[in-house]
Amino acid sequence: MKIRGLTRTFGGRRVVDDVSLSVMPGQVTCLLGPSGCGKSTTLRMIAGVENPEAGEVRVDGQVVCDRTVRVPPEARSIGLMFQDFALFPHLDVARNVGFGLSGSRAEVRARVAELLERVGMSDHIDAYPHELSGGEQQRVALARAIAPRPRVMLMDEPFSGLDDRLRDDIRDETLDVLKQEGTAVLLVTHEPAEAMRMADEIALMRDGRIVQHGAPYNVYNAPADLAAAAFFSDINVIRGEVRGALTETPFGQFLAPGLPDGTAVDIVFRPQHVRIDFDRGGRGPHPTAETGTPARGVVTRARFMGAESLVEFRMDFDGSILKARVPSVFLPRRGTALWLMVRRDRCFVFPRR
Ligand SMILES: Nc1ncnc2c1ncn2[C@@H]1O[C@H](COP(=O)(O)OP(=O)(O)O)[C@@H](O)[C@H]1O
Ligand SMILES: [Mg+2]
Repeated sequence: MKIRGLTRTFGGRRVVDDVSLSVMPGQVTCLLGPSGCGKSTTLRMIAGVENPEAGEVRVDGQVVCDRTVRVPPEARSIGLMFQDFALFPHLDVARNVGFGLSGSRAEVRARVAELLERVGMSDHIDAYPHELSGGEQQRVALARAIAPRPRVMLMDEPFSGLDDRLRDDIRDETLDVLKQEGTAVLLVTHEPAEAMRMADEIALMRDGRIVQHGAPYNVYNAPADLAAAAFFSDINVIRGEVRGALTETPFGQFLAPGLPDGTAVDIVFRPQHVRIDFDRGGRGPHPTAETGTPARGVVTRARFMGAESLVEFRMDFDGSILKARVPSVFLPRRGTALWLMVRRDRCFVFPRR
């Protein structure tokens, strides 16, 4: 599936602004962004239940929507799964799954049996929705959505109604099934963890636009800007100014390639890339190429989080607060002076906005 330049305005505001992306068969692309950024509206235009002002949608190379063509939703070979997937309460599982299928009775029965086998619901073929748990209903909804073999599956936060443990299992199973079917999946979510777990590609959306697009690893480790970095985790920010493609900070020098002298920059790093070390009579560890110069701070808060501790420091150099995530064998007391170092290769330098 390929979309190009999709645009939609509500009340004078561009809610979806020139959105383009493509999803290959058997691949999962996550449209990720905060609530209200235009994800659902994008999906609705692809599905054909909302009309774009501009742009086009292609499925398997065929235009299903552009300035002149408007293929109706049911003829687009696009399946839908939403959070409030309503199964038909008065139909049993077999008839729910077979509902939209054409073909002879025997063909429909065979396809329904195959799908229920695949989602692990064969034993419930005669059950009614109210007799099923949330997770089981979700499996039936998945079987129903893929029954007509859509080329594309659009999923709008479909797992957000499930509790955590169940959700992990159902997510993984659902993706396995969709990959086996060779369906192109566009999944909408506002949760970075969900996107990273599920996506082959993430399209990061903000204020109606795609701000970054790439494999989860790349989007996480090479964010396009400060807001993109902050969307995935807590971040620390220190300020600097560029001199000769470098910026000087209390943690040593950072490269700022391509930025002219005098540019104000934010040096951004995630709490898990902070290392801490002991104070030795007012002195810290030696600087290294990897971690630069240590800077001293005093613990203002330390929380045990299981595998990790989250420690906050007030820094000597300017009184600002920095956060570190460290193995939970460390749980320093409030008021302890410690030295912080940051992994230089994990820092991002952005011109300040
Ligand atoms: N039919 C509509 N009429 C007016 N405004 C709408 C309509 N649908 C969505 N919006 C607005 O468009 C923005 C994006 O909505 P939506 O696509 O649902 O975002 P998301 O799914 O990312 O949370 C929101 O500000 C929402 O209020
Ligand atoms: Mg939405």
